[in-house]
Amino acid sequence: MEGSFFCVSNRALLLLSLHVLMTYFVHQGYPYGVEGKIASNTVSVISLLPSLSCSPSTTKASKRKSTLEVYHKHGPCSQLVQGHSPLNHTKSLLQDESRVKWIQSQSFNGSDGLKVSAATSLPAKSGITLGTGNYIVTIGLGTPKQDLTLIFDTGSPLTWTQCQPCVGSCYTQSDPIFDPSQSSSYANISCTSTLCSQLGSIVASGCSRSTCLYGIQYGDQSSSVGFFATEKLTISPTDVIDNFEFGCGENNQGLFGRAAGLIGLSDDKISIVEQTATKYGKYFSYCLPSSSSSTGHLTFGKDGGASNSVSFTPIVGISVEGNRLSIPSTVFSSGGAIIDSGTVISRLPPTAYSALRTAFRKAMANYTTAPALSILDTCYDFSKESTVTVPTITFSFAGGADINLDHNGIFYVAKASQVCLAFAANGADSDLGIYGNVQQKTFEVVYDVAGGKLGFGSNGCS
Ligand SMILES: *[C@@H]1O[C@H](CO)[C@@H](O)[C@H](O)[C@H]1NC(C)=O
Ligand SMILES: *[C@@H]1O[C@H](CO)[C@@H](O)[C@H](O)[C@H]1NC(C)=O
Ligand SMILES: *[C@@H]1O[C@H](CO)[C@@H](O)[C@H](O)[C@H]1NC(C)=O
Ligand SMILES: *[C@@H]1O[C@H](CO)[C@@H](O)[C@H](O)[C@H]1NC(C)=O
Repeated sequence: MEGSFFCVSNRALLLLSLHVLMTYFVHQGYPYGVEGKIASNTVSVISLLPSLSCSPSTTKASKRKSTLEVYHKHGPCSQLVQGHSPLNHTKSLLQDESRVKWIQSQSFNGSDGLKVSAATSLPAKSGITLGTGNYIVTIGLGTPKQDLTLIFDTGSPLTWTQCQPCVGSCYTQSDPIFDPSQSSSYANISCTSTLCSQLGSIVASGCSRSTCLYGIQYGDQSSSVGFFATEKLTISPTDVIDNFEFGCGENNQGLFGRAAGLIGLSDDKISIVEQTATKYGKYFSYCLPSSSSSTGHLTFGKDGGASNSVSFTPIVGISVEGNRLSIPSTVFSSGGAIIDSGTVISRLPPTAYSALRTAFRKAMANYTTAPALSILDTCYDFSKESTVTVPTITFSFAGGADINLDHNGIFYVAKASQVCLAFAANGADSDLGIYGNVQQKTFEVVYDVAGGKLGFGSNGCS
């Protein structure tokens, strides 16, 4: 007896391509708030450029339980980097813009408080890519465990990895492709299971010989289709989750680099956050490393998290060199804002961006300008400088908290001769603002989903 959604044979799994399957997927975003202090500084140009060697941060990660090390996908700490495949910044920023367009097409609104409403499902729109983020973690899957490096994404619901046999196609990944037949803890989920119908309310689902299938599409080029299954997931030797629901993808393509798949941290029933709710209380935190040559962490539960030092308030103003820009605070509240681990560049209301850019350009007036880079319109050529003085940019939050961004949160560095202000404007003040991962770097970002709170603390990676 075949299940209710689609009836296909195993061989026809290949046919469950995106043309056949009307694919739905979900994004959940989170409003944000910040606190902390960093002094303004003069930095050497060399320190702005990507380093070729990895210097992992061991201090804090080793003190935490339930923690995973976080790397930049394209940096030297990543196992995924192939000899010479430099990041194409133009392409990366175009993907970022697609992700933002997609997020903004969703039904977010400017209400305060963490958005934990029921999942909204919208048909995937062709040509719109939900980019897949730049930060990766390594987890263990199966018995015995097989190590897999996954992209982590607070905007995605489903955790999936490429699986053997690749009935459709698998892209090249750096880890061996997960083989469920080599694991004693792997189990298929039946089409009649409530887990399968739950899946169907969040992403596309189907049925093959009474086994539940999933399909998730991130855009024209990125997708994964396969079996919805359960496995033993190992976060650390003491943090093992039995019967973790995941996608065992036998037909995968797209922009995942050499990562083995994706770990979904959104607030949907099938995400790792919800599946581990009893264990970790829907509480997690992460720190994105300052550079691609250092490491951060992704931590589940409150152990070791900086929960006492984070604040959870909305943004009310921006200062440059200590001078508050004259931006009405209603500009920040009209469109609302979310934080997203997968968006690279923060998107500000145009009124706020324009004031920030004017003040920043004034402070940087003595440096040689460089051509715009995609969505980044304020760039400098530092190739003849040995040091640069970076103006302080301060974000102020309701309740009086101020946070100074350090240069990692101010510049997007393509190369020494093209270093850009790492902010972009939305189309209108009423568009949803997004706090992207450039500005999240080095902060402790805390998601208290159960408590409806989210915030930042300083020095999260050190
Ligand atoms: C980088 O990506 C852009 C946009 O996709 C493309 O036009 C350009 O040719 C790429 N550059 C290189 C060096 O691959
Ligand atoms: C905005 O979101 C809140 C909370 O989810 C909801 O109560 C409200 O009706 C929404 N407003 C609009 C205009 O969608
Ligand atoms: C899972 O389902 C697939 C497809 O029906 C089958 O080939 C595989 O043997 C099943 N695995 C287990 C462990 O039941
Ligand atoms: C630019 O250089 C001039 C001359 O050295 C100096 O007086 C001025 O303060 C500098 N401006 C800025 C914004 O640093």
